[in-house]
Amino acid sequence: MMSEKRNILVLGSGGREHALAWKIVQSPLLGKLYCAPGNGGMATLAENVALDMADHQAVIQFCQDKAIDLVVIGPEAPLVAGLADDLTAAGIAAFGPGKIAAQLEGSKGYTKDMCAEADIPTAAYGRFDNACDALAYLDTLPIAQGRAPIVVKADGLAAGKGVIIAEDIQTARDAVEDIFDGAFGEAGAELVVEEFMTGEEASFFVLCDGENALPLATAQDHKRVGDGDTGPNTGGMGAYSPASIMTQALIDEAMSKIIAPTLATMARRGAPYRGVLYAGLMLTPDGPKLVEYNARFGDPECQVLMRLLKSDLVPALEAAAIGSVKDMTLDWHDDVAMTVVMAANGYPGSYDKGTVINGLDAVSDDTVVFHAGTARAEDGTITAIGGRVLNVTARGKTVAQAQASAYAGVDAIDWPQGFCRRDIGYREIEREKND
Ligand code: AMP
Ligand code: GLY
Repeated sequence: MMSEKRNILVLGSGGREHALAWKIVQSPLLGKLYCAPGNGGMATLAENVALDMADHQAVIQFCQDKAIDLVVIGPEAPLVAGLADDLTAAGIAAFGPGKIAAQLEGSKGYTKDMCAEADIPTAAYGRFDNACDALAYLDTLPIAQGRAPIVVKADGLAAGKGVIIAEDIQTARDAVEDIFDGAFGEAGAELVVEEFMTGEEASFFVLCDGENALPLATAQDHKRVGDGDTGPNTGGMGAYSPASIMTQALIDEAMSKIIAPTLATMARRGAPYRGVLYAGLMLTPDGPKLVEYNARFGDPECQVLMRLLKSDLVPALEAAAIGSVKDMTLDWHDDVAMTVVMAANGYPGSYDKGTVINGLDAVSDDTVVFHAGTARAEDGTITAIGGRVLNVTARGKTVAQAQASAYAGVDAIDWPQGFCRRDIGYREIEREKND
C-alpha cells in the first residue's frame, strides 16, 4: 500500500476537520478525499457526504463502497462510541483510539483511576456514584473549613460544561446535587471531586501507536468568550502554538511522568492507545500535572498545529492507526502560529444562522481561513450556520507578527453578524516583550 494512493474519509464538520483536510490534500499520497458531513470550507477541498457518524454500519458501508483506506475521526463522541473498533473489525484503518482507550476522555473517573494506578501526577480526587458519599467526602476536605476551592466534575462527556470550580462548600454541595439530579444527563451518572490546582495551563499533543508516543507540539487556548479571559466558557476562541511556557525540560518531564506511564498502563489493560493524545496540563510549582486527557486533536488547537507541520500528515496518521511512530520524525516550521475564532454574535448563547460572509477572498494568501460552522451554496456563497464559524489562522516569526497577520485577516472579512476576541495570545505577547 505504501506507494499507492489512499482514499481518505475525514469525519467531522469543525475547524479542526477543515485543518486536517487542508493538510491531507497537500499529501502526494492522497487519492480521493471525502468529508462527512464537512462544512463550507471542506466543500472546496473534498467531496462532502451526508453520513451519520452514529450509524457505524452506514460508515462501514460507505468505506467499502468508496474503497476508503483510512478514516480520520475528528470529534470525541464517535471515538467514545467505539467507531474506531468497528471500522478496524471491518478491516478499515481508523485514526483515533478504540472505545476503551477513548475512556481517557469519556470518563474522568476512569482517567483518575488510571493515574492513581500508574502514579501519574494529577490532582487528588474522589470518585462517586451517589450524592451521599460525595457530600460526606466534601466534609473531610479543607473547603469544609472555608480553605481552598474544590473542583466537581461530571464523569462523562458534557461538551466542556461539566466542570464546576467551587469557591465555597455550599457551591460544591450544590454541584454534587445538580450532577446527580441530571444537570448533565448521562454524563452525570458518576462524578469526580478534585483538589484545585494552581498554575498556568498548557496543552501538549502526542501521536501514539499503542506503545510509543511521538511529541507533536504544545499550545494554549482561550476558553472564555470575552477579552481578558472574561465571560462564559466556550469551545475555544483562539489558540497559539508553541506555548513557550512549555520548555523542553517540561516536555521531557511530561513525557516520562505522564505520557509514557499512560501508554504502558493502557497497553497493560488491553486497550492500547492509538491516535492523538491531548494532555491538558497544569504547570504547578511541583511540576506538570494532568488536568485532563482528550482523545482527539483540540479545536482550535489543531488549526495551529496543521499550519506548523511541514511534513506530510498522511504517513503520521497511518503510523498511529496501523503502524509505528517509533522511528518517525516530523518536521515543523520554526514559527509561531495563531488562530482567531470568529463566532456568530450571541455565541455561546443563542445566535442567528444563515447570515452571509463576504470578503474571504480579501484575506492574504499567507493567512488561512479554516471554516467551522459554515455552509457553501452552489454559487459559492458562504453562510454561517454554527456558533464558532471561522478560524483565521496565521503564521509569523514572533507571536506579535502572527497576531498582526491573524487580525489583518479578520479585518478583511466582511461579516457584520460575527465577532471575535481582540486579544488572542496576550499572555504570550507579554512574555515575548519581557524576553
Ligand atoms: P476539564 O474539562 O477537566 O479540562 O476542566 C475544564 C477546566 O477547568 C480546565 O481547563 C481548568 O481550567 C479547570 N480545571 C479542571 N480541573 C481543575 C483542577 N483540578 N484544578 C484547577 N483547575 C481545574
Ligand atoms: N479547545 C479545547 C478542546 O478542543 O477541547
